[in-house]
Parts: sequence; structure tokens; C-alpha cells
Amino acid sequence: MSTKTGKSQRLEFQRLTVRDISSRKGAEPIVCVTAYTAPMAGFMDDAVDVLLVGDSLGMVLYGFDSTLQVTLDMMINHGAAVVRGSKHACVVVDLPFGSYQAYPADAFKACARVLSETGCAAVKLEGGREMAETIRYLTARGVPVMAHVGLTPQSVNQFGGYRTRGRSTVEADNIAADAQAVADAGAFAVVIEGTMEPLARSITENVPIPTIGIGASPACDGQVLVAEDMLGLFSDFTPKFVKRYADLGSQVTKAVQTYAADVRARRFPGPEHVVTAKAKK
Ligand code: KIV
Repeated sequence: MSTKTGKSQRLEFQRLTVRDISSRKGAEPIVCVTAYTAPMAGFMDDAVDVLLVGDSLGMVLYGFDSTLQVTLDMMINHGAAVVRGSKHACVVVDLPFGSYQAYPADAFKACARVLSETGCAAVKLEGGREMAETIRYLTARGVPVMAHVGLTPQSVNQFGGYRTRGRSTVEADNIAADAQAVADAGAFAVVIEGTMEPLARSITENVPIPTIGIGASPACDGQVLVAEDMLGLFSDFTPKFVKRYADLGSQVTKAVQTYAADVRARRFPGPEHVVTAKAKK
């Protein structure tokens, strides 16, 4: 930005870019958390490096039993809200199931909508070697891609559940080859989800791009959690890979119970919450 004195000045709230994130390989850990709405993005923005608008919103916000019902319009609406609600973090938006797998050109059209209609910095897509051609196509056309290997929830029907991946040597070798393929294809970072710890550690040691783990390894270059999982706002069940940092769900329940009791007892609204005519002098 140019000032009156002609000196250039850094914008006060310059966002982290995908280059900032990719330069953190083997350096300071990358902190990533999911965000789906403007207020939540605002609460978390300053503390993190990446806000991920994950398609997990289908399960967390919409009550679907998998991420497969999530649409491109949903991702765009939530992505735009998260960009509006934040100033600092690099915002990455998930491509939903069906919007990118068939052909690279379809994937590009979906990405063009996501980038132009949300203002986010990058997209994330699931898959390894089978998505390498698409990642190459997208990155050659100006779309930064975060990849996602290991347990890929959009393939839940093929896996038959959400079990940890990479238990057998064959499966571990396949996931390692997937991570290498997405890095070679130009992804700027890769999420490793739900794998055996030594596998995620070894991938992190071998690929040249940052790995961001969830249910993976402390050795990853960064970590991601679903915000509602770590805040106790989603389900009573806490998966092994989640650390609960707060129990906001029970606080919401208690607050609303108190409100309900106040309304029923006519304690709310009080005189301070209503407007009355001023007494004439
Ligand atoms: O959809 C999502 O929230 C994700 C993260 C869990 C990595 O993909």
C-alpha cells in the first residue's frame, strides 16, 4: 500500500498465503482448525494459521450421516462467510463429493466458483494417485490445492466405515505412494487423516510439502481438528484423536435451561430489557 510519504507499508491485516503455509515444512507447526460460519471464524482467526471450511459441515451443522450429501453451493456459502469473518488466517475450502472426481475440467469449473465466489486462498480435495492428474491440471491454472490422503471420508462407502488406515503393509505403501503423488503433482500441503502413526511420520519425513495431521502423528508439520469436536459442540462421543479443550455444549444447555426457567417464572424480560415511556416533568 502506498502512503503519502511514498513509502510502501504492509497492510495491517495481511492474510497468511499458501506460500506462507508451504514454507513451514519442517519448521513451526501449522495450526489448522475447521470453521463454517463468520462468527466462529472471527473467534478463532488470530490463533490459527489455516481456517479449513471442511465438508464435515454436512455432519456437524446439517446432521447428515456422511459428507456425501454436501453440495458445492453449501461449500461456497459457508466459505464466503468464513472469509468475511476472518482477516488473518489462510482460508481453504473443501471441494464436495462429485464436484471434482470425474474430469479435471469439471474440477477447474468447481474451483473457479469456489475461489471467485468466496475469496478463499485454496481448495482441498480428497484422493492420492488417482487425483494427481487433476491436481496438476488445477495448479497449472492458478488453483492452489491442499490434498487429503489416508482416511478420506468421501470414500466411506468404499472403505465401509471410518477405521484407521494403513494397518497392512500394502495399504501403508499405497497411502505413502498417494502422498508422494499429490506432492509431485503440485499440491502445496497434504492432510493425512486417520492413519497408523509411524506411517504419517514416515510420509512427513519423505514428502517435500507440509503434512497436516488429524488422527495421524505429532511428527506432522501441522495439525487440524474439527472445531466443534475440540469445543464439545458436536457429539458426546470423543474420538481417540480428538482432545476436548472445552465443553461448550453443556454450557449451552445450562444457559438455555436458565433462560427457559426465567421466561416461565416471568423473571425475563426484566425492567432493564424493555422500553417504557419517560415520566413527564
Ligand atoms: O472436512 C473436514 O473437516 C476435513 C478435516 C477433518 C481434515 O477434511
